Amino acid sequence: MKSPKRICCIGAGYVGGPTMAMIAAKCPDIRVDVVDINEARVAAWNTDELPVYEPGLLEVVKEARGRNLFFSTKTDEAIVDADIIFVSVGTPTKTYGMGAGRAADLCYIESAARMIARVARGPKIIVEKSTIPVRTAVAMRAILSANSEEGKFQVLSNPEFLAEGTAVEDLENPDRILIGGERTPEGDAAVETLVSVYNRWIPRENILTTNLWSSELSKLVANAFLAQRISSINSISALCEATEADVDEVARAIGADSRIGPKFLKASVGFGGSCFQKDILNLTYLCEHFGLPEVAAYWDQVIKMNDWQKSRFSANIVQTLFNTVRDKRIAVWGFAFKKDTNDTRESAAIYVCRDLLLEGAQIALYDPRVPVQLIHQELQYAGVSQDIIDQQLTICASCEEAADGAHAVAILTEWDEFRDVDFEQMYASMFKPAFVFDGRDLVDHSQLREIGFEVYAIGKG
Ligand code: NAD
Ligand code: UDX
Repeated sequence: MKSPKRICCIGAGYVGGPTMAMIAAKCPDIRVDVVDINEARVAAWNTDELPVYEPGLLEVVKEARGRNLFFSTKTDEAIVDADIIFVSVGTPTKTYGMGAGRAADLCYIESAARMIARVARGPKIIVEKSTIPVRTAVAMRAILSANSEEGKFQVLSNPEFLAEGTAVEDLENPDRILIGGERTPEGDAAVETLVSVYNRWIPRENILTTNLWSSELSKLVANAFLAQRISSINSISALCEATEADVDEVARAIGADSRIGPKFLKASVGFGGSCFQKDILNLTYLCEHFGLPEVAAYWDQVIKMNDWQKSRFSANIVQTLFNTVRDKRIAVWGFAFKKDTNDTRESAAIYVCRDLLLEGAQIALYDPRVPVQLIHQELQYAGVSQDIIDQQLTICASCEEAADGAHAVAILTEWDEFRDVDFEQMYASMFKPAFVFDGRDLVDHSQLREIGFEVYAIGKG
């Protein structure tokens, strides 16, 4: 087996950037070119203000950048010399035409495949790193072979399981690497070439190899199972509130059963992120396509429960604040979909803020990492007019500033720094009764109650 000398990755996003930085850091003898059509993003990867905030990522990038890791917009040059080409472009939910709102939009995948076919010379291994519907490799192969005279391609599936906020840790020490390939001698050889790259730092027994379709499908299924656990515990959080059971105690009790396990049972205001909803929608669309409406309906419920959890949280704020939030200042802590990331895609905070703004609230928002323009953009996309944003949204520089003069605080992201606030001082600066709505069960509720706060927390009776 020939060991690869050059790797190219199309797409320098949340997955392409960190994944390739780790490969470059671990394989100093392999040149890794990460290319993207977004010039601003590429420029940022070449500075110390990376476009993706991830703890520890800058150190990994700096170790390899300029040595064997290069970020550029020179797509053709990077493709032509590469032995392995990762495709790590976005696969968002389609917003138009057939399957709108459910199917994955594969236009970026197709354009990447056409780009490869146009410039590739000689044999190449094409790796689907993006999350795609099962059997996408058929389309990739068809586009590649129909548009290339000289290229010989092996298409592999190698889905990424990193979670944002812990990407470096997850890449350094993944539970498993999954590689799917065609079950032919050429397919097996391509799989082994990719295995040899990961095997530089990941034990062979943690690298699973399967057929192409199992690998493609496993990614959607993994995300569906993870999201299902959150919707399951969130559904129980509502029952806990009605019965004075405590959702964290229930989660601990059931999670101690080794058949259930303790992870991913943290009740919350609802899951967000660019993957869970999109991938379940994609899964349900596929099920319907393959004539399995019952299976589609089963997984659809995970999303419905998540939507309900978000809207139930905002409705509870309005009802608790005496059925009106009009002109009331509500401090919102956190806009990112989880801590330790600047990513806001599908964040529960978007929908809670939208509901409150449309009820006439004045929102005073603080997030340590999310830029103002992104907050505006997300709210507009969720249907909030620029007028409302201008008149009712204030971006603050700290938790305390947001809470100053507020009727209520809503905690929507679990940033560690929110625990360190001087709550006595904060209480003094707020309208009374002063409410805290803890969407992450983050702060010490008994301490807050002793100070005088009225506290509402997910899953606490
Ligand atoms: P992203 O939007 O952050 O990055 C995708 C990048 O691809 C963009 O910068 C875009 O400009 C670029 N691009 C699109 N078409 C291109 C082309 N023809 N040539 C060059 N560049 C092109 O997306 P992401 O979060 O990195 O996700 C990428 C894929 O990985 C998706 O399929 C996603 O489902 C999957 N995934 C994401 C995560 C995550 O945590 N974000 C985790 C696992 C898997
Ligand atoms: C997820 C998968 O975990 C990862 O394997 C996949 O590659 C991409 O999608 P990500 O979306 O980055 O990763 O973060 P994750 O930690 O899974 O959190 C997703 C959402 O669920 C966040 O909003 C988080 O706050 C929420 N969550 C997570 C809960 O509400 N409770 C939990 O117990 C865990």
